[in-house]
Amino acid sequence: MEQQKLLELLQDMSLSEKAEQLLQIGGFYLEKEGVVTGPENLAGYTQEEIEQAGTVLGSIGAEKLKAIQKNYMEKQPHHIPLIFMTDIINGYRTVFPIPLAQGCSFDPELARKGAEIAARESAAAGLHLTFSPMVDLVRDARWGRVMESTGEDTWLNRQFARAVVEGYQGEKTKDGGADLKKKGKIAACVKHYAAYGAPIAGRDYNTVELSERTLRDDYLPSYREAVEAGVAMVMTSFNTLDRIPSSGNKKLMREILREEMGFRGVVISDWAAIEEMLNHGIAADRKEAARLAIEAGVDIDMCTTCYCRNLEQLVQEGVISEALVDEAVLRILELKNRLGLFENPYKDADEQEEKELILCKEHREEARKAAADTFVLLKNEGILPLEKSCGENLSRENSSRENFSQEKGKTVAYIGPHVENRQITGAWSMFAREEDTVSIADALKERGIHAPVARGSAILDNNRTLEALGEALDYQKDAQQAKALLEEAVSVAKEADTVVLAIGEHRVQSGEAASRAQIEVPECQMELFRAVQAVNPNVAVVLFTGRPLDIREISQKAKAVLVVWQPGTEGGNAILNVLYGDVNPSAKLAMSFPWCTGQVPVFYNEMHTGRPYKEGMTDKYLSRYLDIPNKPLYPFGYGLSYTSFEISPVKLSSDTIQKGESLTASVTVKNTGNMSGREVVQLYVQDHAASVARPVRELKGAQKIGLEPGEEKEVVFTITEEMLAFTNIDMEFTSEAGKYSVYIGSSSEADNEGVFELV
Ligand code: BGC
Repeated sequence: MEQQKLLELLQDMSLSEKAEQLLQIGGFYLEKEGVVTGPENLAGYTQEEIEQAGTVLGSIGAEKLKAIQKNYMEKQPHHIPLIFMTDIINGYRTVFPIPLAQGCSFDPELARKGAEIAARESAAAGLHLTFSPMVDLVRDARWGRVMESTGEDTWLNRQFARAVVEGYQGEKTKDGGADLKKKGKIAACVKHYAAYGAPIAGRDYNTVELSERTLRDDYLPSYREAVEAGVAMVMTSFNTLDRIPSSGNKKLMREILREEMGFRGVVISDWAAIEEMLNHGIAADRKEAARLAIEAGVDIDMCTTCYCRNLEQLVQEGVISEALVDEAVLRILELKNRLGLFENPYKDADEQEEKELILCKEHREEARKAAADTFVLLKNEGILPLEKSCGENLSRENSSRENFSQEKGKTVAYIGPHVENRQITGAWSMFAREEDTVSIADALKERGIHAPVARGSAILDNNRTLEALGEALDYQKDAQQAKALLEEAVSVAKEADTVVLAIGEHRVQSGEAASRAQIEVPECQMELFRAVQAVNPNVAVVLFTGRPLDIREISQKAKAVLVVWQPGTEGGNAILNVLYGDVNPSAKLAMSFPWCTGQVPVFYNEMHTGRPYKEGMTDKYLSRYLDIPNKPLYPFGYGLSYTSFEISPVKLSSDTIQKGESLTASVTVKNTGNMSGREVVQLYVQDHAASVARPVRELKGAQKIGLEPGEEKEVVFTITEEMLAFTNIDMEFTSEAGKYSVYIGSSSEADNEGVFELV
């Protein structure tokens, strides 16, 4: 539809119709025959509100959405179509590893592929827009939503923000935005603007306190990157920032997002975030909350009646101008138009294609490859990869419990509650099905490996809080049963040569509203670990988790530790591919693993202090702990391979750089082991002296290269003057003359240094 027609449509709409266009309701209300009333209608929507809400969330499925759209458009006074939105975070039915794991691949193309597949599957299932990517910078592993982020680094988050937005939407065309009408593409929504990832004490929805400089230099760049990649929508965050809730924050929404970043799309509140301004003590009532939000430029009210019950009155009373409402409605109509919904309200919804695409061979293969590329090998004292003969080709007869002891020296036992667990797709995979997911046990079967398996324990200790949330979870309930499970595991472990111990967090222990004050493996599983390790020291831990954990004890005693996060639909297959060396691990931590919970937030790019501490120093009056080291257990950027790499000293093309110019920093990387492998070569820059304190170092580039044994390659990074810019003492984003160090290596602790000067 032409813009002029959209404007005419807008003019023809009544004020109440406009206000309802700004309401988003759960698809649930439209899925049912007739009007949802009584206790099911928690929000208390009227029939008219349900019938005229402009957008819907949470429903998917081609047949269902086509029917909803048809019914809706018949009743909507101007036959305006709905937009169907939901959270497709790391995949629709073919689920990729969680975003934090994807960050560890240091390979944005992997995330782009995942987003393309998610878009293809969900578009065929009738979806128009996903509430993804979440690009919130995260530094505190207590926060459950670190699993939805790509980690603690601004540069890395930016690369993933762009790749994911482009994966869903396609790249921007010459005339500005991506072509959202294109088949298999859906609109993206970047969230949660702004700084939702920094709640005090890691407690979800808590206050955020950041200086404007930290906000600008560390937190805003990934949202900006998504905007520059053409993201169609931005979601506000729940938190306050500078004591102002985002959904009522004019400076954040109008000045920074719209004026500075040039965002022209739709802004949606997070779930009930407009109404929550009452709880924040910012608005006296819903009417005031509606005023604050519309003035701040929030277009869609997700799941409350603040807008649809108050905007009309606010206009009639002259408190706000109708133009403010029009502006918001127009942006929504424009998005509907960009999606082509006025001409084709069903977009790509197609039952047949939905069936063919979902979980098709190609999608599963990509999910499997992706998962294996996100596993981080933290420790390996020579027990991985497992020898293929270790069980893989054992015949059925030989693998029976009675016989496998005769195979001692060749036997790998698979122990732990995660061996058979199929809930490994992460907290957000609402549409994933357990029967489609491959556990380790399923993968063993698929490979024809008849290894001894023992569960050993439940996943969770008896935890009243989680139980109260009504989750049907895997608890250690009965002491007798727990003892029996443990004894069985110990006897299986005794008989085996090597134990693969699959332990870690439950799926519900990370994600939204899943903050933890003790980020450890549940105690019942630690008991299992101790008991198994006591009878068989050859333990390779396969760690399932949605966040970095305190794994000191595991890391001390296990011979190998492989972090597999929440690996997705093809998790089990990917894990065996890595354990048996079909895939050489190549991922690096996108978020530091702390020494202990008390050390968080711990991140590599902290600021210089006036009393810096270096390991081994004995003075007291330094910025240090008395009882633990300053360094995390495993730092950002760290991760091992089955092979080894040597990196040559840094070569700079020049030892000075002029304003507006660039230089190159290069190294030669050699595979010195006997297996082909990939290394993530990382470039860090450190500013020696500036008008404000600067981070001790910052990631400015990374290249993932593959090398055969004995092979070497030159890796060249270009350092531009622009890359050195930061928000200076006068709040200008610029670089300053002076000395800089570059470090190139295989983790954030690389000490391979070169020095140059910006003149
Ligand atoms: C979450 C968002 C999500 C929304 C809709 C909220 O609770 O914070 O990330 O997109 O719900 O499901």
